[in-house]
Amino acid sequence: MAAQSDNSTRKNSKNLSLHTAEGVVVDIGTGDGRFVYRSAQENPNNFYIGIDANTKPLEKISMKATRKIAKGGLPNVLFVRAAVENLPEELNETADEIHIHFPWGSLLRALILGDENVLQSLRRICAPDCFVEIVIGIDEERDKSEIERLKLPRLSPNYLENVLIPKYETAGFEILEKGILSFSDWSKLETSWARKLQGGENRQVTYLILQAT
Ligand SMILES: C[S@@+](CC[C@H](N)C(=O)[O-])C[C@H]1O[C@@H](n2cnc3c(N)ncnc32)[C@H](O)[C@@H]1O
Repeated sequence: MAAQSDNSTRKNSKNLSLHTAEGVVVDIGTGDGRFVYRSAQENPNNFYIGIDANTKPLEKISMKATRKIAKGGLPNVLFVRAAVENLPEELNETADEIHIHFPWGSLLRALILGDENVLQSLRRICAPDCFVEIVIGIDEERDKSEIERLKLPRLSPNYLENVLIPKYETAGFEILEKGILSFSDWSKLETSWARKLQGGENRQVTYLILQAT
């Protein structure tokens, strides 16, 4: 994805990832924190908060971030252990951008079903005009058991338009953009799952770009 820093172009673009205006950027379901770490290196004027319910994969990177700058330390990074269902109140109205890349488990379920509590939780941490980027990658064959376990509906254009988007709107988000990312677009995302899923060119990767209203 091309570099973007201009707010006016950003509004109508799916190039939110990595290149942001100055502010607080929150990555939910951050996994091993790769996106947060790389983005914080590239954008020293932003402050990055990586959040995940499971902090085990974050152990290495969070230690690295606290080192001296010459040894890979980053003063503009914070990792927080929290579930999206219960985000800390200290984050209320702080996020200028929220990213959610390749959610799984309860995070995936909440986003695909438009869970009211989770959407309210996300909306609660938004600063005015906060942008939200959600990238969901599902392979109907490979992920069959997870789809069945979570009882997920198919993310069809009809479902998106008539069921899901109205829920996001009710929760206080305007939909700026939505669609399917091509393999060449999503494989460039600087996250570990974008790299792990490289073999799955048939994976349908749906993106939504929202703005808090
Ligand atoms: C497939 S990984 C993606 C990690 C990272 N975003 C990436 O692209 O590499 C999904 C992440 O969502 C986290 N997750 C699942 N349910 C969650 C929840 N309810 N709240 C917060 N994080 C959650 C998991 O712990 C996991 O790290």
